Amino acid sequence: MTIRVAGIGTALPEKIVTNDELAKTIDTNDQWIRDRSGIGQRHVGGVTSELATEAGIRAIKNAGLTPDDIGLLIVCTTTPDQQLPATSAVVQRDIGLTCGAFDINAVCAGFIYSYVMAYGQMLMPGGPERVLVIGSESLSRIVDWTDRGTAILFGDGAGAAVMERHEQGEMLAYDLGSNGELQEILYADHGGYIKMEGREVFKRAVRAVSGSVEIALKKAGMTADDIDVVIPHQANIRIIEAVSQRTGLSMEKTHNVIEFTGNTSSATIPLTLAEAERNGALQPGQIVLMTGFGAGMAWGTAVVRW
Ligand code: COA
Repeated sequence: MTIRVAGIGTALPEKIVTNDELAKTIDTNDQWIRDRSGIGQRHVGGVTSELATEAGIRAIKNAGLTPDDIGLLIVCTTTPDQQLPATSAVVQRDIGLTCGAFDINAVCAGFIYSYVMAYGQMLMPGGPERVLVIGSESLSRIVDWTDRGTAILFGDGAGAAVMERHEQGEMLAYDLGSNGELQEILYADHGGYIKMEGREVFKRAVRAVSGSVEIALKKAGMTADDIDVVIPHQANIRIIEAVSQRTGLSMEKTHNVIEFTGNTSSATIPLTLAEAERNGALQPGQIVLMTGFGAGMAWGTAVVRW
């Protein structure tokens, strides 16, 4: 039994904040932000559960299904609506699902962790036929808009994927990793803002992602040349380029949305999958590598036959 992604959906708040607009209130400029991060603008606004609901409904529709077809909901977020209940409870109600629902927080690696968990659930005896996985964030609520070290990077949005049992498509290998010793380089306290040591995060991210990609490729019995489509976490285009240089993953095969969305944490990978789908890159049989990393630090890579 194998599993495929049957449908993808996205949601971005209407309000766009350009680099030039940011430069009106903090000491920065469009050229610096583009050169150092690849970001040109970010969407800002919305509530995590509302963005998740919108993306989830679109993914179900894109798969040609109805809410009754979904057997499990996983919402990955690091910006939940409330302390409790889980954001997935709100999304479950608002989409009109009747299945089980839970949240995962692995910050920017959340979608990879959720994808792997969903896959595992579907393989369990009596497991669901279909799982809706949604990455959704309202990071603008926890960004200090006076801190030029972080305000330039983050944005809001959501992306969703319906996974279903099908003879087409399968996961070939995955790697999940975490190093809790590195918490202090990227964190936000309850009620506080994101605090980040940018250079250190950059260095660690390149190392962690490159290592994770190599482990996953080795487990799959593949090399970087076997990968047709690369879907990396969208934190900084220079991190993506550095990982490409280290691992041999082709930049030509790498899909990015960072210029238009900034870093939307657990939403970046499904948002980038949607972009790849729009470009016609996600064809049955293609080998797709998805990789994410973030606070924790936590990271993960999945190699998938589409
Ligand atoms: N605008 C203009 N200048 C800025 C600036 C900004 N927004 N932020 C920093 N600078 C200045 C610094 O003060 C420094 O000036 P100096 O050389 O006179 O001291 C210079 O630019 C270089 O600063 P530095 O912090 O070394 O820049 P950088 O190349 O590391 O880029 C980040 C900063 C934040 C873009 C980069 O470190 C980064 O993306 N890190 C990873 C963050 C990340 O991915 N987080 C999420 C993980 S999921």
